[in-house]
Amino acid sequence: MKDASPGRITVPSILERKRSGSAQKITALTAYDYLFARLVDRAGIDLILVGDSLGTVIQGNESTIPVTLDQVIYHAKCVTRAVQHALVVGDLPFLSYQISPEQALESAGRLLKEGGVAAVKLEGGVHMAETVRRLVQIDIPVMGHVGLTPQSYHRMGGHKQQGKKSLKTERAAAGTAERIVEDALAIEDAGAFAVVLEGIPDELATEITSKLSIPTIGIGAGPDCDGQILVLHDMLGVDPEFRPRFVKRYANLGETISSACKLYGEEIRSGAFPAPSAKLVKIPRAK
Ligand code: KIV
Repeated sequence: MKDASPGRITVPSILERKRSGSAQKITALTAYDYLFARLVDRAGIDLILVGDSLGTVIQGNESTIPVTLDQVIYHAKCVTRAVQHALVVGDLPFLSYQISPEQALESAGRLLKEGGVAAVKLEGGVHMAETVRRLVQIDIPVMGHVGLTPQSYHRMGGHKQQGKKSLKTERAAAGTAERIVEDALAIEDAGAFAVVLEGIPDELATEITSKLSIPTIGIGAGPDCDGQILVLHDMLGVDPEFRPRFVKRYANLGETISSACKLYGEEIRSGAFPAPSAKLVKIPRAK
């Protein structure tokens, strides 16, 4: 049996970042295909999530709910083929794990065996703890996800920030600050190696991060988490019309792609492209 190649990010190395008190934050991005995954990986990002956000980003749905396990496995295969360095985590989509722990074991097992990922992510806290425990017992590493859980789209009435209210001000417990703390603690207790904190107030994320001994990976949860994750297409600005408050744009690829396509069309129409074959230069494909 081979060890993970030197320099490869593993589940123990992610856990170790927090346990050793390392000040080095965990870097994470989503990816859904071979070329983007290769670029993210070669840029030295620690963790790549094949997120069910592919339902909105790639498929154009309003929410992640329609995504199927087969679709995540398909995208995971594309991503894991490219990655040499990062830890690849596959997202369990809606209704591929909520029915029973047995269903979760089967779905997570397929993501590892067919998709090639090293760990799975699932949404939910206290009510999912038993499922997390069962997965961890058979050595399937699990990353939790609490706070704004996109698969709860209909309960939340959209992708809305959670944890702003306390039990004193809200009757239903789901989405309150106290409940999100309990959720994160339950997921840690069940054996998860990390937990995503999405769409919660900064102070709540700070509190949870200080209470947990596993790393917290924030998205829209302020600067104090042990790491940060963003949806790749959001931080690259691929969709000029989509700009959530917490996303920093590191590029404006949408505009670059639009201009390139417009120029391409104009040049075909004007006859500027293609140049006579003799003038074409062969560009070697990047390794
Ligand atoms: O599906 C996804 O991309 C996610 C991240 C936003 C954490 O769950």
